[in-house]
Amino acid sequence: MKTRITELLGIEHPIIQGGMHFVGFAELAAAVSNAGGLGIVTGLTQRTPELLANEIRRCREMTDRPFGVNLTFLPSVTSPDYPGYVRAIVEGGVKVVETAGNNPQQVLPHLHAAGIKVIHKCTSVRHALKAQSIGCDAVSVDGFECGGHPGEDDVPNFILLPRAADELDIPFVASGGMADGRSLVAALALGADGINMGTRFIATKEAPVHENVKKAIVAATELDTRLVMRPLRNTERVLRNAAADRLLEKEKALGANLRFEDIREEVAGVYPKIMQEGTMDAGVWSCGMVAGLIDDIPTVKELVDRIMAEANAIIRERLAGFVTA
Ligand SMILES: Cc1cc2nc3c(=O)[nH]c(=O)nc-3n(C[C@H](O)[C@H](O)[C@H](O)COP(=O)(O)O)c2cc1C
Repeated sequence: MKTRITELLGIEHPIIQGGMHFVGFAELAAAVSNAGGLGIVTGLTQRTPELLANEIRRCREMTDRPFGVNLTFLPSVTSPDYPGYVRAIVEGGVKVVETAGNNPQQVLPHLHAAGIKVIHKCTSVRHALKAQSIGCDAVSVDGFECGGHPGEDDVPNFILLPRAADELDIPFVASGGMADGRSLVAALALGADGINMGTRFIATKEAPVHENVKKAIVAATELDTRLVMRPLRNTERVLRNAAADRLLEKEKALGANLRFEDIREEVAGVYPKIMQEGTMDAGVWSCGMVAGLIDDIPTVKELVDRIMAEANAIIRERLAGFVTA
């Protein structure tokens, strides 16, 4: 399949694996790139730029295809060493960066000077247009159904994607709720140039996370996610568990008085315990509504091949069959 995204990134299939905290290690990114998509190493999961440089090296040893690095700009008090991370990315010869969170303007000149393509992930048309205006090469448009941070506008992809298509000139991929060939064809029909998947890629053989995480996704239905941290305007879609229930109780009890300190136990530093140790109630963790469409744990290549075969069949058979003239 050839789209503006496969052309821009030099990949075979228009499928990107979004950055995921304590999931996007070299093993997963390399598996996605080897399967013909674009794998992404999560920058900030590596505690220092030196560790990121090492992770980039490990990924390069596992694939000779293009892969990317995610740089998430957090609304945190103590800012990570972003210039150091950018240096690790540039010196590591990475050719694609997925930015997310705050405006990536500060790093754009450095990345572009090194010939790196920048895809900014955002949750509204307004932010997508801003990303286009500051020179991002593409955007990833994350609908309300997505795992992680869907923003505060709550616009699902059936509205958000055609709105983005109407407004944007640069290529964009559909993110949030994408799982199979049907998702890919629907995204293309709504004007996107490909898809970005998070949750679906966690439930694969190569995802370097505890089996309990994969089993929890397979067991979950589309009714099993919750939105937390809305009162802090830092909304996150997570899988419902004891920690999510406890957090929501605190939100209800404290109302407008809720502060980050009140929920620290449920959100801070919990990812290693969940993703690596498999302690599923240790805190809240991002998961998309798309869990309802996930019921197996294939290899990444099986998943990507299946998506492409299904998408081709839908386009050539089902859709072509509707056209009578
Ligand atoms: C466990 C998990 C961790 C994530 N961590 C990050 C992150 O650190 N940075 C980021 O930009 N996006 C992060 N995301 C969002 C994904 O990159 C992607 O945009 C999202 O999962 C798409 O929605 P989907 O899960 O419905 O496919 C995370 C998602 C999940 C499920």
